Parts: sequence; structure tokens; C-alpha cells
Amino acid sequence: MCGWGRACVRPAAGSTSRTVASTSICSCASAWSVASVRTPATTRPRRSSPMTTIHRALPTGLAPADPDELLRLTLLLAHDERLPELLDLTSPERSWTRLEATDLMEVWLIGWPPGTGTGWHDHQGSSGAFRVVHGALTEHTWDRGARTRDLARGEGRSFAASHVHDVRNEGATAAVSVHAYAPALRGMTRYAVAGGALVRQQVERAGQW
Ligand SMILES: [Fe+2]
Repeated sequence: MCGWGRACVRPAAGSTSRTVASTSICSCASAWSVASVRTPATTRPRRSSPMTTIHRALPTGLAPADPDELLRLTLLLAHDERLPELLDLTSPERSWTRLEATDLMEVWLIGWPPGTGTGWHDHQGSSGAFRVVHGALTEHTWDRGARTRDLARGEGRSFAASHVHDVRNEGATAAVSVHAYAPALRGMTRYAVAGGALVRQQVERAGQW
């Protein structure tokens, strides 16, 4: 049972990250959980995880669907310098782990080796936010042509449910970012650039990644 009260499978020792298909394993073997075990409550105050803080702050049953609220949520998480340890940043592929998920929202941690990206996609009606916690990312958006926005460490971006983008690591070093979505992602629509416009391709349902 993890710190969030979920049944879970603890990854093998020395491996707390998954590459590509990772949603079947809970992320409870996080540095936050480890910290609480190693620090006796009688000697030092027990540190609350960022997600515990968030759960306490949110009224029961209310999703933080406001993109600005999601962006603030990522700011709380981004202060934890141990987050990159949850991912295998030596992998040549993007890797990710879900930090938290409810019916109303979810939070992901994503690792980006140099040269990797998402491709053009939307979020199937979820609003969201993401913030760079290590390295740098570039977000490509479309407004009668491609637009780009560079995001350095600590910088974030929120977006409404209709947002379409392509996020890439165009730097020379690995990047890590934390992402929050509300409601929880139900899927993504893929797009391609054709004839000077974004053209819908296929829909990926949650669980396919
Ligand atoms: Fe996205």
C-alpha cells in the first residue's frame, strides 16, 4: 500500500522508473516515501509529500480544472529536487511515471532525452499545465503557422482543454517536467502538419501509453 493509500507494486531495487508503458506500476517508491521512512517522527518533523499538501488543500470532489490552479500545483511539485531520480534519464526514449491519479485529475513526471518530443497532440478535453524541473523544453503551438516558446528550468505553461501542442527537448541534455491534467487524461488526438495546417490523424486512448 503506497503513501496515497493505493495497492501497488514496488519496482525492483535500484529501479524506480519505467520507460514507455508504465501506468501499471504505482510511483509510490518515490523519494518522498523513502524520506518519511528514514526520518523518525521523534527526531525530526515528518515531511509531507507535495501531493499530500495538495490533497489537503483541495475540497473533496472538486477538480482543479482551472489551468492556473494546475500550474500552481506543478510549482509545488517542481521544488522537489529528487523528482528526476524517479526516471531513467539514460534511456534513449522518453520515460514517464504517474505521480498521482484520481477520477478528477492526474499528475505525471516525464523524462526527455535530447532530441525527443511528443508530436502534435491535444488532450481530449482536459485542461493542463506543465513545468520544467530539469533541463529545458520547447513548446510548439499552432496559430496559422508554427509558434515556439522556450521553457527553462522552473518555467511552466498552462493551457485550456482545446490546446494543441508539440513539446520537444531541443537541447543537448536530458530534461524532466511535471504535468498536471484535469480531468484525468482520457486520451489524446494526434495531428500532422499537412498543406499548411494541422490535420487530425488518430486518437490514442488512456492506457495505450
Ligand atoms: Fe500535451
